[in-house]
Amino acid sequence: MKSILLLLSCAKLSNFEARKASVPPPMPALHEGATDAEKKGWRLYRVAGCVGCHSPPFPEAKHLGGNRDLPTVFGRFYAPNISPDPEDGIGKWTEEDFFRAMRKGISPQKKAYWPTFPYMAYTKMTDDDIKALWAYLRSQKPVQGKTKKKELNPNYQFPGLINIWRWMEFKQGVYKPNPKLTAQENRGRYLSQSVAYCDQCHTPRNRLGQLVKKYYMAGGSNPGKSEVHPNLTPHMEKGLGKWSEDDIVLFLTSGEKPNGEMADHNQIMVEKIEDSYSHFTEQDKAAIAAYLKSLAPLDFDPAEFNP
Ligand code: HEC
Ligand code: HEC
Repeated sequence: MKSILLLLSCAKLSNFEARKASVPPPMPALHEGATDAEKKGWRLYRVAGCVGCHSPPFPEAKHLGGNRDLPTVFGRFYAPNISPDPEDGIGKWTEEDFFRAMRKGISPQKKAYWPTFPYMAYTKMTDDDIKALWAYLRSQKPVQGKTKKKELNPNYQFPGLINIWRWMEFKQGVYKPNPKLTAQENRGRYLSQSVAYCDQCHTPRNRLGQLVKKYYMAGGSNPGKSEVHPNLTPHMEKGLGKWSEDDIVLFLTSGEKPNGEMADHNQIMVEKIEDSYSHFTEQDKAAIAAYLKSLAPLDFDPAEFNP
């Protein structure tokens, strides 16, 4: 059971350094006459990171065609084709099927998804946001091509294992605002916990792979600590205490830190910024910054944490 879902969405995303080579995701511009919902869904598809797995920044990738390989402790996953193709994609799905997948992590055949599809975060999205994503996906061109099947490691092949994870770690339900925060801070908290799932990487996990609530947003790492996700609380030495809100906005836009250094190109944060977070509206970036500043400063170093 150790590290039963040292996950996933935070697991190092495959051999992307080798393959990415600064290729932009194959995501077309919006068509003329797109509805407001489609426009909103277009942006969400980027900022919520769907793009990185389902339209990956690889030269051979197709928009919505999936196939990003995602190695995790459970095995190797491939993001599925989610284009409106009726055979290879999700063309036969109803909006209800899509809501069930996003909100509950359950397929139309009533099977549980593995959390490599980050539904533990997307479950918190508002109905409006999920509807917009659906409208956007439906408006796109069907893509042919089945994606590869996942290859579970021998230890994780017994049926029902996924339900243990769901029972331990998955809390279904839409985001609930925190009444102690301002509207702007709540917007930032919503984005950080659901759409952009900053907390899934920037919080440490215990041996069972559960987020350690006591150190919420104080930094985490992927299995083996080959990648450390820094402390985002406003702690002066160990966190973002010396960063202003504008510094955080600039970082989410360009990857530049207040000391002039750029985020490390071998790390997943750079891809997240380029392909996803830089596409947030200025208002939403400012909301995330305001939320990070509202957190209690925590004296915690993820590089030294041994669960
Ligand atoms: C980190 C990679 C990753 C991200 C980010 C991601 N997905 Fe996925 N998605 C997957 C994987 C892997 C699966 C298959 C999971 C399984 O096999 O249990 C999946 C499954 C799905 C499915 C079910 C497809 C089917 O044929 O059953 C849908 C729909 C979907 N994702 C939509 C989205 C949307 C919309 C977003 C953004 C809001 C998103 N995904 C973000 C990796 C990802
Ligand atoms: C998939 C994992 C992942 C997600 C999701 C993620 N981050 Fe990161 N983040 C990283 C990694 C890895 C680094 C280290 C990169 C570096 O310092 O070069 C990092 C670095 C940072 C830094 C720099 C901190 C410092 O002290 O240098 C900030 C600020 C940050 N992330 C904010 C965010 C915010 C805000 C979100 C959500 C909108 C987010 N991150 C989502 C992995 C992630």
